[in-house]
Amino acid sequence: MSETVIRVANVSKVYGTGEAAATALSEISLDVERGSWVAVMGPSGHGKSTLLQIMGGLDRPTRGQVYLHGIELTTLGSAQLAQTRARAIGFVFQSFNLLPHLTALENIQLALWFGGKGDEKGHAQAMALLDSVGLAEKAHLCPGALSGGQQQRVAVARALANDPDILLMDEPTGNLDSAAEAELLALLGRLHEQGRTIVMVTHNPAVAGRARRVVRVRDGRIEGDRVNGS
Ligand SMILES: Nc1ncnc2c1ncn2[C@@H]1O[C@H](COP(=O)(O)OP(=O)(O)OP(=O)(O)O)[C@@H](O)[C@H]1O
Ligand SMILES: [Mg+2]
Repeated sequence: MSETVIRVANVSKVYGTGEAAATALSEISLDVERGSWVAVMGPSGHGKSTLLQIMGGLDRPTRGQVYLHGIELTTLGSAQLAQTRARAIGFVFQSFNLLPHLTALENIQLALWFGGKGDEKGHAQAMALLDSVGLAEKAHLCPGALSGGQQQRVAVARALANDPDILLMDEPTGNLDSAAEAELLALLGRLHEQGRTIVMVTHNPAVAGRARRVVRVRDGRIEGDRVNGS
């Protein structure tokens, strides 16, 4: 039997109120099974990032429930939510969200520190993570001195810091050239083989083709949901 690690149940998200109200998600339901690799596709502005952030407990739904390992996230207080999230989920944001005044290495060390890893272990592990995304030689540069694709790879390394079971990635290959994209996809393939659950938003059909399941979002609704190769 497969186990559901994330359950999105009848979730709607409305930003703003009154005349400014914008519905980003309309009654979306989606189950993500342990160890699955899901691509989320769809046109710009149709709710993909909103869905990912709500799945990861970074944003709250206006209506509906989100369950992470069976725990309903909306019932948790903010400290409990932060702790649950830090343990279970690695997140790669569409805009990377690296801290600009920390080096690549320090950005990852900070995430390790949040996960309870002190300086010495954290340093070695952060270097190993940077090495795994091909950026060991850039460890001491701040994000402003890195290319978009390099920042993205630092963000991926940071998402892996606390060894999460679930990776939620918003356009993880969006700024990469084809060689870097191939490397990152190979890394994701290894993570998938290790049994991790991956949900990634992508506009790139070739990238989505590596996932086992493709969910299409349009107008804040699920328009399609199919297993690759079927
Ligand atoms: N914080 C916010 N406040 C108000 N509206 C928002 C906010 N975040 C998103 N929206 C709106 O919600 C809708 C969905 O946005 P979302 O970022 O989820 O789209 P997306 O599918 O990820 O698009 P893209 O492919 O361009 O990244 C858009 O119309 C957007 O303007
Ligand atoms: Mg988006």
